Amino acid sequence: MNANKKDGKEQIIIFDTTLRDGEQSPGATMTFEEKLQVAELLDKMGVDVIEAGFPIASEGDFNSVSAVADLVKNATVAGLARAGQKDIDRAAEAVKNAVKPRIHTFISTSPVHMKYKLKKQPSEVLDMVVSSVSRARNFVDDVEWSGEDATRTEFEFMCRCVEAAIRAGATTINIPDTVGYTMPNEYSAFIRAIRENVPNSDKAIFSAHCHNDLGMAVANSMAGADAGIRQIECTINGLGERAGNAALEEVVMAINTRSDILPYYTNIDATMLTRASKLVSAVTSFPVQYNKAIVGRNAFAHESGIHQDGMLKNAETYEIMTPVSVGAGKTDLVMGKHSGRNAFRTKLEELGYVLSDNAFEDAFVRFKELADRKKEVFDEDIEALVDEKIANAADRVKVEALTVIAGTMGPQMATLTVDISGEGQKTVQASGNGPVDATFNAIRELMPHDAELILYQVHAVTGGTDAQAEVSVRLEDRETGRKVTARAADPDTMVASAKAYLAAINKLEIKRQQGALRSVEDLDEEARRGGP
Ligand code: KIV
Ligand code: ZN
Repeated sequence: MNANKKDGKEQIIIFDTTLRDGEQSPGATMTFEEKLQVAELLDKMGVDVIEAGFPIASEGDFNSVSAVADLVKNATVAGLARAGQKDIDRAAEAVKNAVKPRIHTFISTSPVHMKYKLKKQPSEVLDMVVSSVSRARNFVDDVEWSGEDATRTEFEFMCRCVEAAIRAGATTINIPDTVGYTMPNEYSAFIRAIRENVPNSDKAIFSAHCHNDLGMAVANSMAGADAGIRQIECTINGLGERAGNAALEEVVMAINTRSDILPYYTNIDATMLTRASKLVSAVTSFPVQYNKAIVGRNAFAHESGIHQDGMLKNAETYEIMTPVSVGAGKTDLVMGKHSGRNAFRTKLEELGYVLSDNAFEDAFVRFKELADRKKEVFDEDIEALVDEKIANAADRVKVEALTVIAGTMGPQMATLTVDISGEGQKTVQASGNGPVDATFNAIRELMPHDAELILYQVHAVTGGTDAQAEVSVRLEDRETGRKVTARAADPDTMVASAKAYLAAINKLEIKRQQGALRSVEDLDEEARRGGP
């Protein structure tokens, strides 16, 4: 069967199995509503086939597959079925309302699976290939057949099964690397040989379904394409059984980015990749690895001085695709100990500071000292470096005493005494849902504000139960959207928390009073004149 063509390139059909293989990842279960949300986004993004689930597996799976079938407007909706009649009938029932329904039926074909899992002879398996595909064809025209563990299947037997499946009516033939065992050159040779040896192979689209146990899933899928594969089965964020499946975003961006040598196209709107990644990560509670290709938070972040310098001169020096092309906003120059002068100057300009040469050198030295102590230097840290008013903000209100009652007998209570410069000491008491909440409530009573707490983080600076606690608090001003981060350390976590929270409120207040930031030259000038 011929693939669609556009501008001299052939279409790679993107078959997304996030809702089926992806959901099989231990711990990645999604609710009914979440599955619908994901399906809707996949459909909007241009996914060609959505494998919505395994209808025989449970009542819940059946219901979600049929709801996806009802909902999806453009994509083909596939339901998975083993080779038995009941499985196939259930899958047919679940996808029957889809605009484009597909039944995807599979059976193991490798010696180890047939012997130990199925306890069947190859001849029995071959019969089941024919009966399952024929049965599925009674319900739908679009039938996909997969030989589970295909890459460990004997070549002759694989060819016989593929030929039989196509003769019985399968329109897509999937050759899964179920255990993520194959190598790219081996996989492409296998696919090529099957297509050459099976007499009716031109009557079906061949498909890759590669697992990532050796980190080869995307490489194997692309090697399969080189051998004539025109459907790639993949998942958002590479979710899936064990080490996962080929990541959809990586397949799509490999095809887009290397269009100079890859004669394929997909229907995916790549600018929706980041959104899809975030949604799947949120609904499954599976965090995305920081350095994950395409959608990891570091995928477009540059920290080393040499790289940042190159990026500022021309983004092509270190970026093979733009963050905008995958919907990820702009490149992030992460300020840290590897950042150089050029990046630091650019960051200052972004923040609204234009420094004299001397002031710049001085700020750069202080920035390097800070970066040596801290993993990541936030914008607010840099502002504090060059703007002493902000740096000294934490001193305006000081914690004098804090007593916290914690434990199982709630409500937890905090009694806080602070010293406010120019006003003297004040004491308040507050309760809360836990000791931190009680402490922060006490501070809120003392210094009412409507800033939102967007980060509260505790790190042990050293090991052991007597470790110094370092607490970071990040607040966002609801009115202006400005964010401030403050940090404080103390052997007592509650005291460190109170200090950090107070410092953050103070910083925010100072920023509010200042309004738009003045240039550091203004501040220098003020300093020369002896203050504002
Ligand atoms: O990995 C696999 O072999 C599968 C099949 C059901 C296609 O997920
Ligand atoms: Zn799989």
